[in-house]
Amino acid sequence: MSLEVADLAISFRGARVVDGVSFAVDDGERLGLIGESGSGKSLTALALLGLLPDGAEVTGSIRWKGRELVGRADRELARVRGDEIGMVFQEPRTALNPIRPVGRQIAESARIHRRLGRRDAARLAVELARQVALPDPEEIVSRYPHQLSGGQRQRVAIAMALACDPDLLVADEPTTALDVTIQAEVLDLLGRLADERGMSLVFITHDLAVLAQVATRGVVLERGRVVEQAPVPQLLSKPSHPVTRGLLRDATATLWRPEGSDD
Ligand SMILES: Nc1ncnc2c1ncn2[C@@H]1O[C@H](COP(=O)(O)OP(=O)(O)OP(=O)(O)O)[C@@H](O)[C@H]1O
Ligand SMILES: [Mg+2]
Repeated sequence: MSLEVADLAISFRGARVVDGVSFAVDDGERLGLIGESGSGKSLTALALLGLLPDGAEVTGSIRWKGRELVGRADRELARVRGDEIGMVFQEPRTALNPIRPVGRQIAESARIHRRLGRRDAARLAVELARQVALPDPEEIVSRYPHQLSGGQRQRVAIAMALACDPDLLVADEPTTALDVTIQAEVLDLLGRLADERGMSLVFITHDLAVLAQVATRGVVLERGRVVEQAPVPQLLSKPSHPVTRGLLRDATATLWRPEGSDD
């Protein structure tokens, strides 16, 4: 078990917004966190990364490779975050510096976290651009973020996260801002990269169709609580909680459904 979250609770001024959340992620497993807007997905993700906003009070336990992360100093968390746990967020623009070529930004990430020299880091940036299937990697690394499409920017953000060679990638709605075709490509890419690298994934979405494309197991949240937790095929064919059934109704893309399901 590489990640174990137990009874995680997050409050702001005494108001609990995440309330007793527990789940675990095995090495190389792809877990989806799903729920409606405001159900506590992003705060749970930020807690894993030690990036909760000021004023958040946290209790419970987040064990990463056997070490407790709750209550650790910011500096130690920053190290775990860079070296072992990577992240990708919804809007890649905010992750990217608008006035630096994207290759330099990928390389910077590699220099800091893998302690590579300038030339090796630059070489790795091109290699990572290729791995995330950016067109013409040698050329594209010299472009600025505004010279890329939204899907390409998200690929750069993924490359930056991969530059740290993380064991776990936390991705919070990484494809929501993209159009459907590009979204499917990026989801496919994330799944493939996770498999190739043996990297675990915690993937956040409000869309069960998206979850089904990338995760093997899903944790369903409602108002800060886990209401259902099951392998994805089961969530699709036999959702046991009304919230999950609602998510199934609202799922956007054409869902793959297991045989024998008549819904
Ligand atoms: N800094 C904050 N101060 C107070 N309350 C907050 C803060 N950040 C989030 N919350 C509240 O915590 C709850 C969970 O927020 P969170 O961002 O985790 O939801 P989410 O599931 O990611 O929703 P979405 O799908 O809209 O991104 C919400 O009710 C939100 O209003
Ligand atoms: Mg969110």
